[in-house]
Amino acid sequence: MRRRKIKGSDEKLLCYTDYVITAAQDHKGKWREIFGNKNPIHLEIGIGRGSFVKRFAEKKPEINYLGIETKEEVMLYGVQESAEAKLSNIKFIWQNAMELTDFFETGEIERIYLNFSDPWPKKRHAKRRLTHPDFLEKYAKVLPNNGEIHFKTDHEELFEFSLNVFSESGWTLKNISLDLYRNLPEDNIPTDYESKFVEQGLKIYRFEAIVPGGDGF
Ligand SMILES: C[S@@+](CC[C@H](N)C(=O)[O-])C[C@H]1O[C@@H](n2cnc3c(N)ncnc32)[C@H](O)[C@@H]1O
Repeated sequence: MRRRKIKGSDEKLLCYTDYVITAAQDHKGKWREIFGNKNPIHLEIGIGRGSFVKRFAEKKPEINYLGIETKEEVMLYGVQESAEAKLSNIKFIWQNAMELTDFFETGEIERIYLNFSDPWPKKRHAKRRLTHPDFLEKYAKVLPNNGEIHFKTDHEELFEFSLNVFSESGWTLKNISLDLYRNLPEDNIPTDYESKFVEQGLKIYRFEAIVPGGDGF
């Protein structure tokens, strides 16, 4: 997705007070109050234009969805579309996922989606990858026992790096696919990046990981 700066998108985003959260740390331990129910909460980190999380929220009203994104000009699309659809089970956090453990208590998030995360191919940028061991430590702190991460990418090196990091950090890996579209699950929801890459004929890699200490042990 090429980053196209939309003038005033930050101000526009802030108009959607029912949907946009700018200080998630204020809600730590109290997310059930934000949604007004006790339904499980699933989180996508790095939502881009947000159509994945918005489509999930439409399809599964029994789950609450949160999307985190730093770039206001892309996030605005998902926010506007969710507001137009009057969805009540979705919120958007306009902050950096580096601070995740300030946002959530242990067990508050049941599932995390990482879709087409920036690969940061240079070694000196490895710490920015959302599957770096430092991030995995944070994920393990906010997920419950049996909490899951669902990961998709078109980037072979990031896939390989991530599989190794999850495995070395004691996560249980399952449903590993080296070509998701060869045997596409019926319930797959494509992200914006995914649709573009599939059109280009690229392979999509996927896996699921269960938090260390979960049922896999
Ligand atoms: C390559 S895009 C993928 C967008 C979307 N998931 C998709 O598949 O269409 C990655 C997005 O993750 C966001 N991102 C990367 N690191 C982040 C972080 N630490 N916190 C929040 N967002 C982040 C970027 O701003 C970017 O919009």
